[in-house]
Amino acid sequence: MAEPKENLQMEKIVSLCKRRGFVFQSSEIYGGINGFWDYGPLGAELKRNVKELWWNAMTRQRDDVAGLEATIIMSPEIWKASGHVATFSDPMVDCKTCKGRFRADQVGEIPCPQKPSKFVSECHGEKTPARAFNLMFQTYVGPTATEADIAYLRPETAQAIFAQFKNVLETSRQKVPFGIAQVGKAFRNEVTPRNFTFRSREFEQMELEFFIKPDEVIEAIHGAVATLGALDPKAPTPEPRPDWGWQAWHQYWVEERVRFYEGIGLSRETLGFHHQTPAELAHYARACTDILFKFPFSKKAADGNVTGDELEGIAARSDFDLSQHQRFSGKPMGVFDDELRAAWAKLPKEKQDDLWRRYYENRKNYLTKSAKPDETPEQIQKQATDDANGLAKGQYIPHVIEPSAGVDRLILALIANAYSEVTKTDDKGKSETTVLMKFHPRVAPVKVGVLPLLKNKPELVKKALAVRDLLRPWMNVFYDDGGSIGRRYARQDEAGTPFCVTIDFDTLGEKPELLDTVTIRYRDDGKQERLKISELMDFLLSKIR
Ligand code: GLY
Repeated sequence: MAEPKENLQMEKIVSLCKRRGFVFQSSEIYGGINGFWDYGPLGAELKRNVKELWWNAMTRQRDDVAGLEATIIMSPEIWKASGHVATFSDPMVDCKTCKGRFRADQVGEIPCPQKPSKFVSECHGEKTPARAFNLMFQTYVGPTATEADIAYLRPETAQAIFAQFKNVLETSRQKVPFGIAQVGKAFRNEVTPRNFTFRSREFEQMELEFFIKPDEVIEAIHGAVATLGALDPKAPTPEPRPDWGWQAWHQYWVEERVRFYEGIGLSRETLGFHHQTPAELAHYARACTDILFKFPFSKKAADGNVTGDELEGIAARSDFDLSQHQRFSGKPMGVFDDELRAAWAKLPKEKQDDLWRRYYENRKNYLTKSAKPDETPEQIQKQATDDANGLAKGQYIPHVIEPSAGVDRLILALIANAYSEVTKTDDKGKSETTVLMKFHPRVAPVKVGVLPLLKNKPELVKKALAVRDLLRPWMNVFYDDGGSIGRRYARQDEAGTPFCVTIDFDTLGEKPELLDTVTIRYRDDGKQERLKISELMDFLLSKIR
């Protein structure tokens, strides 16, 4: 049976990743371990670039975001408060024939572990009824390994941000609205890891929790909550305004994140969007927009269009997370806002009553849905009343917008997006197909190849090494003197290096007017031009930043 084209494309990508050192199977010499992947020399650089670009865009380039780097193992109470202990599970079925274990919603579309073909086979054996399987990896802290010592590898980086909210607020001199960003490992014991690195058991996240004022507070201070109309993708993203409510902030972050992807080479045409329906949303969430990428394995919808698979979710999570940690830890997670207190005192009584009632209803809804078994409706009403009374004193629990991206998925998207093949036919009619990885220069693992025309001419080598040393403090340079210049260009094309610089006899002054110039060769069209060495740095920096 002919293999579907998209799977052939994935086969080629997987093969290139191994051959060129982007991605290796973890523990390969022992037969591998399912759902775990290592990044080789090129992959490690690519990943580092992506994380640094995200960190720069989300923290250093902004006044309203601070960074955090928390531990992977945290108090297990965090995962009780977040709901992960009780509900972070997938429905799982066992196959009585092949003994494989599958996610119930994926039976029929996933490979059977007993059959070798990676993408297309299917087991028809009888399945057990579905049961919940918690996705958190469990371990023990300390030597006794009792029930009381159970801890978890974090299944998301987000919860550390909520748990450290007060410490960051107090030490960073930030005020709501502001965000806390974190990049780090997370672990999920996926029932069926799949699609190469897309769904792995160990992965990395880049998460921002952006804390905002509840809409009732905005209304109390500014009289009304501003919303945004449709945003023009060609105009700059709007400057945040103090009267934005959660919808405007949500829309703003979706747009900011799309522009981040565009800025690293994923055009809007390669992306898709999924606006979660009320049935899909978590009970506390008000909206969630998933940014998708059209992977070679992404399925066609009924209308023939490919919508893609998730790179990032941007969720409006209300005040659920901080409220949960307040309840479980007993530590206050609210903030005090002088502006609110002053504004509230000036509001007409009926406006105060209206805002009070709406805030009270929201708090009561949250408290009712999250009630512990021993909490009575009277206790819930009392707590919601206290919370609503806090408005007059300038107190509230911030709401949050969460742009949460998967690093490994993004790396796979960048690799799939960059992959292209070029077929050249020589004078004798012989064709050769080579791979060109068209990474955006910002993410490219190697920014520039430095190549002496010949390696047995010491003057050329000396000059080429000087060019390498000039550039090396500023960017990742690959020095290559092995083989014909054509082969060396081809090797850099396959690594995705956007520029190659060749040092030849003209560089040394064979043609005096070309002294101290080099040939710069562009990966995507193979064009070459002459550039002064003194202009090289500025040129390259302008392309890779
Ligand atoms: N914090 C959201 C997620 O991990 O998907």
